[in-house]
Amino acid sequence: MFICVGTPPKENGEADLSYVEDVSHAIADVMDSYKLIVEKSTVPVKTGDKVSRTIRAYNKRNVDFDVVSNPEFLREGSAVNDFMHPDRVVVGCESEMARQLMEKLYSPLKAPILFTDIKSAEIIKHASNSFLATKVSFINAISRICELAGADVGKVAEGMGMDRRIGRQFLDAGIGYGGFCFPKDAEAFIRISEKLGYDFKLLKATQEINLEQKRHFVRKVEKALWVVKGKTLAVLGLAFKPNTDDMRFAPSIYIITELQKEGAIINAYDPEAMEKAKQIFKGINYCSGPYEAAKGADAMLILTEWPEFRELDLKKIKSLMRHALVIDGRNVYDPEIMGQEGFTYLSMGRKEVV
Ligand code: UGA
Repeated sequence: MFICVGTPPKENGEADLSYVEDVSHAIADVMDSYKLIVEKSTVPVKTGDKVSRTIRAYNKRNVDFDVVSNPEFLREGSAVNDFMHPDRVVVGCESEMARQLMEKLYSPLKAPILFTDIKSAEIIKHASNSFLATKVSFINAISRICELAGADVGKVAEGMGMDRRIGRQFLDAGIGYGGFCFPKDAEAFIRISEKLGYDFKLLKATQEINLEQKRHFVRKVEKALWVVKGKTLAVLGLAFKPNTDDMRFAPSIYIITELQKEGAIINAYDPEAMEKAKQIFKGINYCSGPYEAAKGADAMLILTEWPEFRELDLKKIKSLMRHALVIDGRNVYDPEIMGQEGFTYLSMGRKEVV
């Protein structure tokens, strides 16, 4: 039996485990023979103990069971491929029977399986997401230094990434990470560490840099426009990343809300996320495509790097806009080409083209 219920954040950032408890109780109620209970949900370390305790308490027929931690590493937008070709499968288990069943279950994937104790497996999930989030914040911090020094963060990432110990993935500077995993898992891991008695300063800084990057982008817009009030902004991309309609913790939420407060008129387009965005933003004009959004705009903001934005007819975009100003939060375009096309082009951690 797999436990795959949500563990949404509570007000204080801790994971809400009530669904995990409910389902543990429900499993105990129906168990009539040995059961292997696999914890898939992202949970704080020591949740396995609590699941075992709950099941034992409601296990009326006194049936044997094992609890296993088997964290999930799928990404939105590539979940099936990630499932079929995992870098690793992590299994935290503490009995030979559980180990053998899990080994058999995953054998068709022919992926490396790491067996650990339950608590280590639980920590691997939070540690992995927090490390990736830290990698993103690290390159965003470097992007700020590049802006101040007149260097190019794309080149810096390339040079760092060629070192196999570092790797190029998750070194794309931008407006920070969003989605329902990194922000909530980092926050939860900070709380988990605190409860255990460790002040996870590095992860706190990761989260702070992530917020600061969005503030920095808003300041870029303010500086470029001089006065935001009454200006029309074409916003391309609303989802937290391409190939999803997911708006949860999307950087666009903070950025658009701040600019609306200052009186900007927002013409937005996203290939997938507009329906979900309608439940979040008030007073935005939703457009049928990038060209409609660009009409009469004082600036174009790129907030998600959808592949179709790389293919835009830049001459057409320029002719539609009131001012040829592009502020690119995802470094989609080549600054040199934007300069040749006659745009003022501001991006993240790269030279301004004015
Ligand atoms: C993430 C992890 O990558 C998965 O391994 C994990 O299973 C999942 O969380 C989860 O816990 O369920 P996901 O949230 O789908 O997956 O998205 P990612 O592709 O990891 O991107 C997260 C955020 O980081 C996005 O906002 C993306 O724009 C940002 N990012 C990523 C950057 O800003 N720069 C990068 O170089 C990479």
